[in-house]
Amino acid sequence: MNSEQITKITPKSFGKTAAGEEVKYFELKNKHGMVAEVANYGATLLRLLVPDDAGSTTNIVLGFDNMAQYQKESPYFGSTVGRVANRIAKGEFELDSKRYKLAVNNGPNTLHGGIKGFDKQIWEAKPFDRGLESGLDRGLERGVVFNYISDDMEEGFPGKMSVTVTYTLTDDDELRIDYEAMTDKPTPINLTNHSYFNLAGAGSSDILSHELTIYADKYTPVDDTLIPVGTLEAVSNTSMDFKTATAIGARIDQVKGGYDHNYAINQNVSAAPKQVSNTRVGLAAEVKEPKSGRRLMMYTTEPGVQFYSGNFLDGSAVGNGGAYKKHYGFCLEAQHFPDSVHQPAFPNSILRPGDTYRQTTIYQILQK
Ligand code: BGC
Repeated sequence: MNSEQITKITPKSFGKTAAGEEVKYFELKNKHGMVAEVANYGATLLRLLVPDDAGSTTNIVLGFDNMAQYQKESPYFGSTVGRVANRIAKGEFELDSKRYKLAVNNGPNTLHGGIKGFDKQIWEAKPFDRGLESGLDRGLERGVVFNYISDDMEEGFPGKMSVTVTYTLTDDDELRIDYEAMTDKPTPINLTNHSYFNLAGAGSSDILSHELTIYADKYTPVDDTLIPVGTLEAVSNTSMDFKTATAIGARIDQVKGGYDHNYAINQNVSAAPKQVSNTRVGLAAEVKEPKSGRRLMMYTTEPGVQFYSGNFLDGSAVGNGGAYKKHYGFCLEAQHFPDSVHQPAFPNSILRPGDTYRQTTIYQILQK
């Protein structure tokens, strides 16, 4: 083993927050030259670089190259979102006969954990390299374990919660995100990653020609404030149907505001399940960019996925790939269904003391 070739994952500076906190990021690199950069601000995926035909790399997630923009204008680019990703109607809920009032930040509702959610917090960070640990030169997998302690009543949520988010980049070109949380009082929880992908390159074009498949027969229809009405409806014969690969732009004009909907992932299909230690993740969605042939496969343990077609991007945010205009990125946010606290028929999103919340999602990039 040539020790010269061993590169330890060391933090690099990403500047400071407005309050003067140091922000660090880590560069994870696999044997094919794929690179994931993750920062301790919001446990955020800053860039995901994949090798391209020109012998260089292409960044396929939207982001900024400085802290100031992440703090001022980021619509959750690459962030870890919590304590409850997506919406809670009217910013309040009842749990075990107690009423809780949350920070309201999206019309009448709470979105993505409130005004200062997990995406805006500084996390503890510990990098690891399983190649180094096992004496191999950068083999197997490497990553960063992020930890955050969310105080009791933070943004109105009960319970002190310890949260761990682990990003792992494998030599199979997977970016795996494992979440774990424990609480000392019952509380709702729904953690996700909010990366905006553009497989042609961040900032290069819109994503309307990307071909999307979502392994879901049903979705949760919403009201005018994007709160589920409580039913599950079939996607067949509607513009919501992505059961077979369809260009995102093919019917987007028929969907008011564009796609911003939660799909209930089919649980009975064993479409290429993956086993990660003792967790089984199912294939939830895949996306192909026709020009490059690049594909994104998304696997998750979660019952739902929010497909968001970047409807609110308007070109005002100029990031590391140029101006991010309408539909310049899409999100596939693995999650429990929105507003689950008000819908007893939806899969349970309450975490109780003594139990451990776990979520695993894998984004795998296939080149051609
Ligand atoms: C929501 C969108 C929202 C976006 C950015 C998505 O998860 O569903 O409605 O605009 O996040 O905040």
